[in-house]
Amino acid sequence: MTQQEIPLSPIATGLSGSIPTDALCRTWWEQCDMLDNIKQHSQLVAEVATTLAMLAVECGRGNTTDLPGADFVQAVRAAGLLHDLGKTYTIVHGGNHSQIGAAWTMELTRNPAIAQGVMHHVYWPGQLDLNMHFLPLAIIYADKRVRHDALVCVEERFADLMDRYGTNERSRGWIERSRRQNIELEHLLSIFLEEDIHAYPFDRRRLVG
Ligand SMILES: [Fe+2]
Repeated sequence: MTQQEIPLSPIATGLSGSIPTDALCRTWWEQCDMLDNIKQHSQLVAEVATTLAMLAVECGRGNTTDLPGADFVQAVRAAGLLHDLGKTYTIVHGGNHSQIGAAWTMELTRNPAIAQGVMHHVYWPGQLDLNMHFLPLAIIYADKRVRHDALVCVEERFADLMDRYGTNERSRGWIERSRRQNIELEHLLSIFLEEDIHAYPFDRRRLVG
C-alpha cells in the first residue's frame, strides 16, 4: 500500500512577530495560492473591518486589545486580509479553512490576536463582548457584509450562504445560528460604535492603506 502524500505548507519560515503591512499580507496570499476571487473578497472584508476599527478609535474604543490606535486598526485590517488564507488549501485537500488559515497566520505573524480573528471568522463561540473581543467580532461581521466582491446586508449574505451551503438540515441549522449571531452583532456594534451599522455607507468612506 502506498502512503498518501502529505503536502507541505507553502509558507516560508520568516517570522515577524508583529502586525503585518498590507503588502506583506499580499505576499502571503501569493504563497498560499489564493484565488483571485478570494483576494477580491478578502480586500473588501478588510475595508469593512478597517472602517469598523476606525469608528472604534474615533469614539475612544480603539484600544481594546492594548494596541495604540493605528496599530489596532492595522491589526484588524490584517486579520481581514488574511481571514481566508486557508481557503485554497481546503478546496484542494478538504478540512476547515479557518483552522488551517489561523495556523498559518500564527506561523507567519506570531500574533495570536490576528490568528484568533482568522480562526473564528465564521462564528464566535463565546459572549459577544466587543470590549473584550473587538477584533474577531469585527472580522466575523465584515465577512458577513461581503458577498464575493460586493457589499451587501447581512440578510442578503445569508440568503446566498443558505443557497450554496444549506444542503441539509444540519448545515441549515449552523447557517441560521450564524445569521442570528450576526444580527445581534450588528445591533451591538451599532451601540458600541454609536453609528447605525446596518445603514453605514462602508463604500463611501476613505480607507487606510
Ligand atoms: Fe472564510
